[in-house]
Amino acid sequence: MYIGADYYPEHWPASRWETDAKLMKKAGFNVVRMAEFAWVKMEPEEGVFEFEWLDRALEILGRQGIKAILGTPTGSMPAWVARTYPEVIHVKKDGMRDTWGVRKQNCLSSAAYRRLSERITRAMAVHYADNPTVIGWQTDNEFGHPFCYCETCRAAFQSWLRTGYGSLDELNRAWGTHFWGHTVGTWGEITIPVDTGSHNPGASLDWHRFFSWQNVRFQHDQVEILRACCPAQFITHNLMGLFKEIDYYDLSADLDFVSWDNYPVWGRPAVRYDASYAADVMRGVKGRNFWIMETTAGPCGWGVFGPNIKPGEMRSVAYQQIGRGCDGYVWFRWRTCTAGREQYWHGLLSHDGKPGRRYREAAAVARELHALAGRLDGTTVRPDVAIIYDYDSLWAMRIQPGYPGADYQRAIGNYYNALFRAGVNADMIRPDADFSAYRLVLAPHLYLLADDVAARLDAYVKSGGVLLADCRTGVKDRDNLCHARTLPGRLSAALGIEIPEYEAIPDECSYPVKGSGALAGEYTAVKYADWIVPRGADALAACDVWHLKKYAAVTRNAYGKGAGWYSGVVAKESAFYDALVAAALKDAGVKALVTPPEGVEVSVREGKGRRLLFIVNHTDREQTVRVPAGRTDVLTGRKTGGELRLGRYGAAVLAAERRRVR
Ligand code: GLA
Ligand code: ZN
Repeated sequence: MYIGADYYPEHWPASRWETDAKLMKKAGFNVVRMAEFAWVKMEPEEGVFEFEWLDRALEILGRQGIKAILGTPTGSMPAWVARTYPEVIHVKKDGMRDTWGVRKQNCLSSAAYRRLSERITRAMAVHYADNPTVIGWQTDNEFGHPFCYCETCRAAFQSWLRTGYGSLDELNRAWGTHFWGHTVGTWGEITIPVDTGSHNPGASLDWHRFFSWQNVRFQHDQVEILRACCPAQFITHNLMGLFKEIDYYDLSADLDFVSWDNYPVWGRPAVRYDASYAADVMRGVKGRNFWIMETTAGPCGWGVFGPNIKPGEMRSVAYQQIGRGCDGYVWFRWRTCTAGREQYWHGLLSHDGKPGRRYREAAAVARELHALAGRLDGTTVRPDVAIIYDYDSLWAMRIQPGYPGADYQRAIGNYYNALFRAGVNADMIRPDADFSAYRLVLAPHLYLLADDVAARLDAYVKSGGVLLADCRTGVKDRDNLCHARTLPGRLSAALGIEIPEYEAIPDECSYPVKGSGALAGEYTAVKYADWIVPRGADALAACDVWHLKKYAAVTRNAYGKGAGWYSGVVAKESAFYDALVAAALKDAGVKALVTPPEGVEVSVREGKGRRLLFIVNHTDREQTVRVPAGRTDVLTGRKTGGELRLGRYGAAVLAAERRRVR
């Protein structure tokens, strides 16, 4: 297993490198990621390459048995690039070109920038293809920004649309340009929707898709070169978990595996739902295990910094990711730098370079993970539950949220967190994934629902699957036009309901919700309510307010061999989602191996006849977890009784029984 740190030898005198390498080795590290911001060090002038310094650093690392992942350095351009080719700098919304001097400033349409990117990538690839220390590549760094509004991007957007739509008639139809008389008569008339909230929603969605595609293409240019020159080395990229601007399914298609940058230590201590949610998204984008390429090593921040990572916390942060499919683990950064924007983004070593507490804790985690590596090999998370995670819906909902405050990721989060609390894992899948591997599929706020996806969801339920959908699912078609049907449109049969009307609930108002049966209890509808008319479904809850009494708020419909669940409200209480998720899980016959107390996370990795149960305490107090007796905690070798005691930030990995093979 590869474990290590992000390392910037170029920030320190060469006389220090040997000390660093030895300290890394002593910590049990065997990998570094480097060079992703060292373009000017490798190409100080256009076309002049200097790799000698990096060769030397790699040699020193290599002697200590430390391998390297090299980043293509296009995330931060040298001054000479901007001086020679001013057009490579992106143009902001106001039409002004940005000022060189931070990173991620390039226009993705710029031919000059693409050519320069290819040249430095090729030079590095040729130089390092056979270097035994270099095991892989990271493309660029954290693809994502900026959106560029230059004329080249505008022309590129037009030609991308032309390729996609084929004819202006088709584009005008898809965008619904008959509204406000916005029919375009030539491709050249198409503008960039600068304010995606006010411009045409179809154009705005396409602008998001185009931006994502531009990043994918930029990466692809580099990947082609790396594949051709370095067939023996892997290619990855450091993604950003729940980042919204890029379709990570598309970006990761070109990679061997994805990595991601996890910085969960901010603000008030809290249960780390989102780091887990993000990990599942990261495992989902390729349907395979991932690496952590950067993670909190100390207080983080630029101008100001946040809390320190507490004693023991490095371990809980790590086990959360390992339990969800992480196979390589890299801390950001090795040593806190004394210069530049990130002087307060603390590394394992402080500014003084002395190996202190954080170094020792990382070393202890590294030792433990190396011991666990054999057991992890060939295992991944294989849940019975899936959540549809869709970038088109995310973007469309940002463009036109519908009810105030509607947020696609948070809407999923309500259900995700309930599953987390129940101790049940889920896969994040795209809408066109195969649902048949799952007993329960959740489709919260699946705003943009193409007819073929609706048809497959219908077939899934009919053949025995359990579907849980909720409000705003199925409102839009693929073009971001509203379906001309009564909601929930093509899901009406599977869900057994019709929604003739709906409303937003203003922030200062709310409706009491009375539940019965599996949902017995009192809840509060906030933000939104569907006026649901059951057409065969059972009503399990209703809003207790005069105008909604005769409508349902939550329903369950027996359909074919399966069942369709629907919630038409956004509830204030997490207890609502706990009850709803518990009922759907029961309906689908999905049971948790362990039901954790609050603040404790459970996940299961399995494969090669092994099954490992990860139990992680995210709190700074001791926790007692009821577990099956007689299992071995593979970290300590001890057998469990019926109860497992976890100290603050404690973690255990239990060897669990195998289950049916799928
Ligand atoms: C990101 C980047 C790193 C560094 C860290 C800390 O994740 O990839 O280069 O900037 O944040 O700021
Ligand atoms: Zn541009």
